[in-house]
Amino acid sequence: NSQTPVITIDGPTASGKGTIAHRVAQVLGWSVLDSGALYRLSALACLDRGVDTADEAAVAAVARELDVQFKGEHVLLEGRDVAARIRDEEVGNLASAIAPQMPLRNALLARQRAFRCGPGLVADGRDMGTVVFPDAPLKIFLEADVAARAERRCKQLKEKGFSANLANLMKDMEARDHRDRTRSVAPLCPALDANTIDSSTLSIDETVSAVLDLWSRTPESKTGTRA
Ligand code: CDP
Ligand code: CDP
Repeated sequence: NSQTPVITIDGPTASGKGTIAHRVAQVLGWSVLDSGALYRLSALACLDRGVDTADEAAVAAVARELDVQFKGEHVLLEGRDVAARIRDEEVGNLASAIAPQMPLRNALLARQRAFRCGPGLVADGRDMGTVVFPDAPLKIFLEADVAARAERRCKQLKEKGFSANLANLMKDMEARDHRDRTRSVAPLCPALDANTIDSSTLSIDETVSAVLDLWSRTPESKTGTRA
């Protein structure tokens, strides 16, 4: 529904996109699209089915047929909760490796746009403002320096019971960011009309406030729909 306002939050890994998207959506009473989860789910489904990830048509077919449900914290793939498995760095790295494939991105496009319904949507990823919701009334590009991001991810992984090594994480993160930023298809870059927020030294609350403040200055926030 093109009347539903969208706030897009794009940025590199572990800049806080998912956390901020959920908090902003909670305050506004909107829904959330974690687009990275769809890439991670596609990667996991390929792994589980032994699909050759170099076969672009086969990867796209897996993505088109994904039987997935998002229920709060739970992510169900064919009825099984894979919320923890898709957060594994191995799955994240494979997601980034298949993400440049155009057939895969096309297969996920309609699925992502279908989340646009109800009072509003906060969508986080890499190309939310540039490709998927180019008409979003508010676009955020969330940055943080790589040291801050590696520390955040390290702490987050350890809290979830995964093992994590800061130096290795930083190396993998830089490689993944480089690949996401330099790929020819839907590269990670701010939309021309995006507002960049550097959250290196900002708390989660401060970042949420900055986004809500920008939203309150957006004309669409007054009407609840696109002008
Ligand atoms: O979605 P993305 O990969 O961009 O990041 P995230 O999973 O939302 O955030 C990564 C970790 O950083 C989480 O554990 C957040 O709680 C933490 N974080 C933080 O400490 N300070 C911020 N300003 C933002 C996120
Ligand atoms: O949580 P984190 O930021 O590490 O990653 P994610 O948002 O879950 O995305 C995993 C990978 O999927 C990224 O490294 C991107 O290569 C890819 N992705 C993408 O290409 N486009 C999106 N809209 C979202 C994710």
